[in-house]
Amino acid sequence: MQRHTTLGEFLIKNQKDFPYAKGELTALLSSIRLAGKMVNQEINKAGLANILGAAGNENVQGEDQMKLDVLANDLFISTLQNRGEICGIGSEEMEDFVSFEEEIHKDAKYVVLMDPLDGSSNIDVNVSVGTIFSIYRRVSEPGTPAVLEDFLQPGNKQVAAGYLIFGTSTMLVYTSGNGVHGFTYDPGIGSFFLSHPKMTIPEDGKIYSINEGNYVHFPDGVKKYLKWCQELDPTTNRPFTSRYIGSLVADFHRNLLKGGIYIYPRGTTAPNGKLRLLYECNPMAFLMEQAGGKASDGYRRIMDLEPTELHQRVPFFCGSSKMVEKAEAFMEEYKN
Ligand code: AHG
Ligand code: MN
Ligand code: MN
Repeated sequence: MQRHTTLGEFLIKNQKDFPYAKGELTALLSSIRLAGKMVNQEINKAGLANILGAAGNENVQGEDQMKLDVLANDLFISTLQNRGEICGIGSEEMEDFVSFEEEIHKDAKYVVLMDPLDGSSNIDVNVSVGTIFSIYRRVSEPGTPAVLEDFLQPGNKQVAAGYLIFGTSTMLVYTSGNGVHGFTYDPGIGSFFLSHPKMTIPEDGKIYSINEGNYVHFPDGVKKYLKWCQELDPTTNRPFTSRYIGSLVADFHRNLLKGGIYIYPRGTTAPNGKLRLLYECNPMAFLMEQAGGKASDGYRRIMDLEPTELHQRVPFFCGSSKMVEKAEAFMEEYKN
């Protein structure tokens, strides 16, 4: 029988990836794995909400049904708070970060930023959603409350990042700076198994992912790049293929496996686009670079941007290096 590696075994085997961490980061990733399993179970039941009681209504037991993104947020926070690895968490679902200040957190060296449920509008139509996480070493002194500066660190300071994708299979994909590794969940056994070791994105691709309905609002560089993607030129495999799910995690995951580019540019009504730097773009940029791809705001490397706010938005160009470079060349040529 073939021997399959579980996520737990893999983390222990690769603990040397984090020379200064003494197992804390391994434990933290295990906590994320545990919360991920709980969220997975809730998502699988989501379709039953209409039978058992829709979100916002009472369920059959007379309890209030929580919106799934709020529920996912609560599950991650309580799971991580119950253990001692992090001293605080920032989330899309909370205006301010929370600081964990109980006895078990006094030696905690890490903070987490997360999008507990990404693509949540897709839940009602049974389409893939995900969870994104980003991990930093705190900059403040252990034993003191977490401060905003612990969270406002550039992406190049991330020690680990990843996502769970709740798709046809549930997967956990992460990097700690030594490549990108993907694990597929076996619900019968309740474990994640290494299914995609050392994931790399093709250097070039032919999929572009963008909400083209916003075309009139796009900067000229993006409009010209899209037209270029749609031109007939068999020598460069054009026209390319358009694929857009509307869940960043799902669009990212497909492009990572097949090669492609994801763009969420600025628009006339959203000067910095829609996606959030700290818990959507930075973790995805870290993964993308570790897989051999690129991530920028159209001009600058995402992971070098200095954050100023917890919920800061940023334009996002992410994918196969050649495709991102081509899009950046159009942004440079048609600056407006
Ligand atoms: P969230 O569900 O966490 O708010 O994120 C939704 C994001 C992202 O997942 C997706 O790529 C993007 O919003 C889609 O936005 P549009 O509907 O504007 O295309
Ligand atoms: Mn999101
Ligand atoms: Mn979300």
